[in-house]
Amino acid sequence: MIRSTVRGVGCALPRKIMRNTDFEGIVETSDEWIIQRTGIRQRHIASDDETTASLAEAAARDALANAGLTPDDIDLIVLATSTPNNTFPATAVEVQDRLGMRHGFAFDMQAVCSGFVYAVSTADMYIRGGMARRVLVIGSETFSRILDWSDRSTCVLFGDGAGALVLEAAEGEGTIADRGLLAASLRSDGAHKEKLYVDGGPSTTGTVGHLRMEGREVFKHAVAMITDVIESTFSQAGITADDLDWFVPHQANRRIIDGSARKLGIAEEKVVVTVDKHGNTSAASVPLALCEAARDGRIKKGDLVLLEAMGGGFTWGAVLLRW
Ligand code: ACO
Repeated sequence: MIRSTVRGVGCALPRKIMRNTDFEGIVETSDEWIIQRTGIRQRHIASDDETTASLAEAAARDALANAGLTPDDIDLIVLATSTPNNTFPATAVEVQDRLGMRHGFAFDMQAVCSGFVYAVSTADMYIRGGMARRVLVIGSETFSRILDWSDRSTCVLFGDGAGALVLEAAEGEGTIADRGLLAASLRSDGAHKEKLYVDGGPSTTGTVGHLRMEGREVFKHAVAMITDVIESTFSQAGITADDLDWFVPHQANRRIIDGSARKLGIAEEKVVVTVDKHGNTSAASVPLALCEAARDGRIKKGDLVLLEAMGGGFTWGAVLLRW
């Protein structure tokens, strides 16, 4: 059977780093509060010349170099973002143009923080369906542009960045010993749409709007939702937490990450954590964490890796793959 295997990984972060102490003159907060409640110590913030498209292009080029490929080798770009450069066209086609790609097709995917997990699963469908052989899957965000910088309960939580994977079709045996994507579970429930949203849009206010979140409500649902989709991928693949080599969760809050790992029985040393350095970069958080752990030698070829995310909508999902 055809499997979608990881051929390359890449990432890009804005030049500017904002530390918790840098907020002290902007809103009433403290380094201690932010670290204790979230685990975040710093985040990268895009400068005027950095956009979702430019970060996505940089991450894509990094992933292509890592894969030993060029844009000519790519059939499809799926770009997960909630902070596109424009309402339309899709930021994915801007990235396609920036890469000089004059063939194939490209589109954006909108599932907020779950965007990358949705995009990987979507790319897998195109690969297994035979419509694409190699797909660039990108998560790129500039959440700093939709934050209300006077709201201390949200502005300290988010950061900007991008990460990318090159997925490639390969023959597998149809067992969990295969490399590539092995199982996935996606969910959404629009009944929760007002707990985490942006208060503007082209068809309502005609403005971009700002992020609004009932943090405590999101927190309350997060662990149960994450556990639900992960248990579903475990049962699809016939594995348990002990079989995993790495758990790469969405990086929103250290307490949610630790709570989910504990509930699922995933050992602490298998959890990849970058929230301290990047904050919550929404759809970019999982590929940024994957990039870091693959580059520093933790994630190796053949490792069993579990990705997970939960975000606005609510949307949530998990993907199990062998690197
Ligand atoms: N500095 C200091 N105090 C603050 C700050 C701040 N930056 N922000 C809020 N507070 C205050 C509040 O005003 C409140 O004060 P009060 O008790 O006087 O009213 C107090 O701290 C406690 O507020 P809570 O909201 O109860 O704090 P909590 O411990 O829940 O932590 C947090 C807040 C970090 C937002 C947490 O609820 C959380 O992480 N929620 C989940 C967020 C998340 O995971 N999002 C993921 C999806 S993101 C996406 O999809 C785009």
